[in-house]
Amino acid sequence: MSPKIAAAPKSPKAPSASETAALRAAHLMPLPGPMFAKPVQIVSGKMQFLYDENGKEYLDGFAGVATVSIGHSHPLFVSQLKEQIDRLQHNPPLYLHPSVGAFAARLAEKAKTVNPDMEVCFFTNSGSEANEMAAFVAKAYTGRHEFIAVQRSYHGRTLLTTALTGQHNWRNQQPYPAGVSFTPTDYAYRFEGTPEQSTAAALRGLEMTLKSSTQGKIAGFYAETIMGVGGLITPGRSYFTQAAEMVRKHGGLFICDEVQAGVGRTGEHYFGIKHWGAMPDILVMAKGLGNGYPIGAIITTRRIAEAMKGLLHYNTFGGGPMAMAAAGAVMDVVESENLAANAAKVGARLIAGLRKLQLKDERVGDVRGMGLMVGVELVKDGKSKEFAPELTLRVVESMKDQGVLVGKGGLEGNTLRIQPPLCWTAADADRTAAALERALKDV
Ligand SMILES: Cc1ncc(COP(=O)(O)O)c(C=O)c1O
Repeated sequence: MSPKIAAAPKSPKAPSASETAALRAAHLMPLPGPMFAKPVQIVSGKMQFLYDENGKEYLDGFAGVATVSIGHSHPLFVSQLKEQIDRLQHNPPLYLHPSVGAFAARLAEKAKTVNPDMEVCFFTNSGSEANEMAAFVAKAYTGRHEFIAVQRSYHGRTLLTTALTGQHNWRNQQPYPAGVSFTPTDYAYRFEGTPEQSTAAALRGLEMTLKSSTQGKIAGFYAETIMGVGGLITPGRSYFTQAAEMVRKHGGLFICDEVQAGVGRTGEHYFGIKHWGAMPDILVMAKGLGNGYPIGAIITTRRIAEAMKGLLHYNTFGGGPMAMAAAGAVMDVVESENLAANAAKVGARLIAGLRKLQLKDERVGDVRGMGLMVGVELVKDGKSKEFAPELTLRVVESMKDQGVLVGKGGLEGNTLRIQPPLCWTAADADRTAAALERALKDV
């Protein structure tokens, strides 16, 4: 399946982690940077492994925040990018270049699996920009400006995408553009009732938000297929079909944010939303699409895209030859190495291992997600389900010391995020579950 893993790549002599941290502190904005009480410095990577300046190997369980989809420095990715940079490094949209149309056609073909009318792409440099573009298109198409987003969502860091983000700690750029309302999350673990009742309540909430917080007709409804930053909250199986229907009844577009869930991460399918059978009007992608090369994209139908005719818009780097080479290589590898199928298989094993642990330790409150998009919500005890952010911090630190890097998320900071490169093996899944068990014993 995945290429054989070479030994740790040789790196030029790196400064110590403390020298690097001091330079960062002196010359970068005083914003949260490296995680962990004792920060890790990464100087090289190969497939699902990362190496610090002393050659210590880490199993990567977070993929540069769900971004390194096919593996670090995958040989095909490296060779296709090198080939492209040797030939032509940048091309503005002013001149034709063969790569952008060709890749757009491939991406649209994938998008047809969730909506047969998907045909038209637009490329950006990031997920935030892609979500901005989705709003631009939805406003142009509907002639309206109101959007609904989901509580606990994360859609980016521009002004509008921060306004669409339903987490107080990220909502720190007030004031925002008007016209964003929030609808309740289908968060079964924290709902008093069955998962089906949780979905029904979230849908009733959406109906009420539409009726009470908007003029009754909207431009669009933004939703992540599975929440990433929000803590891997996974809506019930009937949520999206019903939500999309309700949104369309109110004149809006269903804007499905697959920035984290796309590229096969949820297993089996290229797009996560395929698991729900719901039909988005606009798909938003970024992160794993470029395996770490900056790229974002939206894909929509010809009918919707036609609304942009005559409007002036531009993006210096979007769809450039390097980004297209990166995204093309990622798609080649996802297909040739069956990474979506691998994500389904390895993810199922990971979830099974974590659920076994849940039976032994009540602090493992919830194990959720799909494929290699897995969350573990840690609580003080199974009865109170009290959020356990301090425990979570200590657990990620202990796992890091054991050589396994996982992320942390959730509005309350108590969910482990396991979103590794899709080339993970069964052994990697088992090692991660074992590291969590050990961490929970030690802390
Ligand atoms: C679901 C989702 N949408 C959008 C974004 C924003 O993407 P970017 O950081 O590339 O701007 C993120 C980033 O974490 C994300 O998780």
